[in-house]
Amino acid sequence: MNVAVIGTGYVGLTTAVSLALHGHRVIGIDVDEEKVKQLRKKKSPIYEPGLEEALETVVEQGTLSFGSSLADEAAEAEILFICVGTPESEDGTADLRYLFAAVEELRLLQQHDPRKRAVVVKSTVPVGTGDRVADLLREFASVHVVSNPEFLREGRALRDALNPSRIVIGADHAEAFALMDQLYERLSAEWVRTTRANAEMIKYASNAFLATRISFMNELSRLSAALGTDIEVIARGMGLDSRIGPEFLRAGLGYGGSCFPKDTIALLQVAKEQGVSLGILEQVREVNRTQPSWYVQLMRERLQGLVGKRIAVLGLSFKPDTDDIREARSLPVLAELLEAGALVSAYDPVSAEAVARLYPQVRYAQDVYETLTDADAALLVTEWKDCVELQWDRVKEVMASPVLFDGRNAWPTQIVKRHGFTYCGVGKS
Ligand SMILES: NC(=O)c1ccc[n+]([C@@H]2O[C@H](COP(=O)([O-])OP(=O)(O)OC[C@H]3O[C@@H](n4cnc5c(N)ncnc54)[C@H](O)[C@@H]3O)[C@@H](O)[C@H]2O)c1
Repeated sequence: MNVAVIGTGYVGLTTAVSLALHGHRVIGIDVDEEKVKQLRKKKSPIYEPGLEEALETVVEQGTLSFGSSLADEAAEAEILFICVGTPESEDGTADLRYLFAAVEELRLLQQHDPRKRAVVVKSTVPVGTGDRVADLLREFASVHVVSNPEFLREGRALRDALNPSRIVIGADHAEAFALMDQLYERLSAEWVRTTRANAEMIKYASNAFLATRISFMNELSRLSAALGTDIEVIARGMGLDSRIGPEFLRAGLGYGGSCFPKDTIALLQVAKEQGVSLGILEQVREVNRTQPSWYVQLMRERLQGLVGKRIAVLGLSFKPDTDDIREARSLPVLAELLEAGALVSAYDPVSAEAVARLYPQVRYAQDVYETLTDADAALLVTEWKDCVELQWDRVKEVMASPVLFDGRNAWPTQIVKRHGFTYCGVGKS
């Protein structure tokens, strides 16, 4: 099928590449001309495992191309995905200006070249947005509007796009469902066929629930630390219950990224507009906001103050295997450490440059061991493989003092203790 993907960020580029890998003819459209230039040279503007190699393959095969004008370059498309950002506005609601700008371009395209098309909203949008888009396109009887929320995880985006956990399609016409069936015929996943509003709500409810699990465990980790119990053992014991399951039970410094923070506040704002209270979600956000301060306070107590202490921070992106630093927990952690008078060095395999623009006072190292050299303590913020799998003898040798703060409960506790480190995890005795 002929497909256009509007917006070639984390979701759009991954969607475009995966559809091209499935044999569709795809054009990615972006207003950012620099990005388009780079993509045409088969260079991915984002770091995602396997994405650049796949991009190279499909561009060379001629199944994926890029452009910056929908009207001039995407007229052939029968399915047009909207994958633009829906960031948080000042008041917490989802900012839909990029989405409606894309819809305006779609209107112009349809006026200029009327034909049967499906407009598929993949961006995360509040309930009712798809219906608003349908209203804006109502004059074109041959256009269907579909909601198809995306559930990929950064760091494994391409794998998730090629093997999705489920395909959720919201539409109001059999022809629209049939088009989506044809588009995704090579994917094997459970399908949910429903209304646009239900599809939109499934996305917000999923993210809110995952964020709730994380904050639940983080809040519990504070009690666990006070009681001297081990939150990791507790999580394992809980996760073996099939009604609970093991995922998203790891205590740490909290969630970040471009989705959970903005989607939870957007859902709260929608609830507020409806006069409905979502108190649980308010507390989820509050725990997430305060978790880094709670942990830095613990560091302050253990180190008897942070003034002049050399702290090596390992990992800066919001999670491993991505360069995304949006709402990364490293940002409040760095702010708190610097504010407390610590001398901070930091390492991240791909995100150091972006963080350096925000925190130039930090010393950025080329590798983990350089970061750790002469440090009074190390703090794991993001569990990149090369921040977790360390040569512990070497770590001990280069550090001024063998003190480890494991903000992700990812270091091997028994091994580091055997090597003589003082170890402090999250919610562990
Ligand atoms: N990043 C994720 O992990 C993820 C996962 C699921 C859902 N989502 C949702 O998907 C949407 C996109 O997220 P993202 O992280 O890919 O965003 P992003 O910021 O990485 O990319 C958005 C892209 O859209 C482009 N753009 C903006 N207006 C445009 C227009 N009118 N025409 C063409 N291009 C335009 C921007 O230049 C940018 O390249 C959001 O709604 C987000 O909530 C994101």
